[in-house]
Amino acid sequence: KKKGFIFDLDGVIVDTAHFHYLAWKNAAAIFGFELTEELNEQLKGVSRIDSLHKILDWAGASISQERFDAITADKNIEYLQYVQKMTKDDILPGVYDFVSKVKEAGFPIALGSASKNARAILAKVELLHLFDTIVDGTNVTKAKPDPEVFLIGASQLNCDPKDCIVFEDSVAGVSAANAANMISIGIGSEDNLGHATFVYQDFTYFPDDLLEQLTEPVNN
Ligand code: G6P
Ligand code: MG
Repeated sequence: KKKGFIFDLDGVIVDTAHFHYLAWKNAAAIFGFELTEELNEQLKGVSRIDSLHKILDWAGASISQERFDAITADKNIEYLQYVQKMTKDDILPGVYDFVSKVKEAGFPIALGSASKNARAILAKVELLHLFDTIVDGTNVTKAKPDPEVFLIGASQLNCDPKDCIVFEDSVAGVSAANAANMISIGIGSEDNLGHATFVYQDFTYFPDDLLEQLTEPVNN
């Protein structure tokens, strides 16, 4: 059976998770709320709108729809200012080599992200050519931890969900991959991502034969 590879974007391929954090931290400050890195873990993988809902909840603030829209728009403007400075040097360590190896081995590759900026970011860091399909915040209606984003990815790759392998840095994303019945590779710390099938600090920590391990049938 054909294996398929699905990569999250923010925090997996590029370190934009940090840019999202900086921009949300400033948005939260409007309500006198300090967004810590720890709380920010709960915003990873979460859509722009749901992120602001969570922040308002934590801050105990309530605002008009107009103000809500203005804040998400401003957050995205600030975020894009950071993104604008990105180049292919901002691809996280080990990612280019691993994804190229997957491609050369002939396995289909999807992006599975909640971001509406996904395509622009992949273009900016010159990685669009590695992906057979892109599933992002423009085609997904149910946010991670709902498995929708990864199930659409699997179907676009023509792979069975159980033959797909997902690379994720977020708690919600690992849960989404698990709910889709896929193998989940957590990128980050065991502390948050203990529910993943495997966890590695980053792509440079992968064992040299990870691709073979994931794609060769085990004989027993
Ligand atoms: C990813 C990130 C989230 C972000 C979401 C929406 O899932 O991990 O932090 O909020 O995408 O991104 P966008 O670029 O559309 O605001
Ligand atoms: Mg992510």
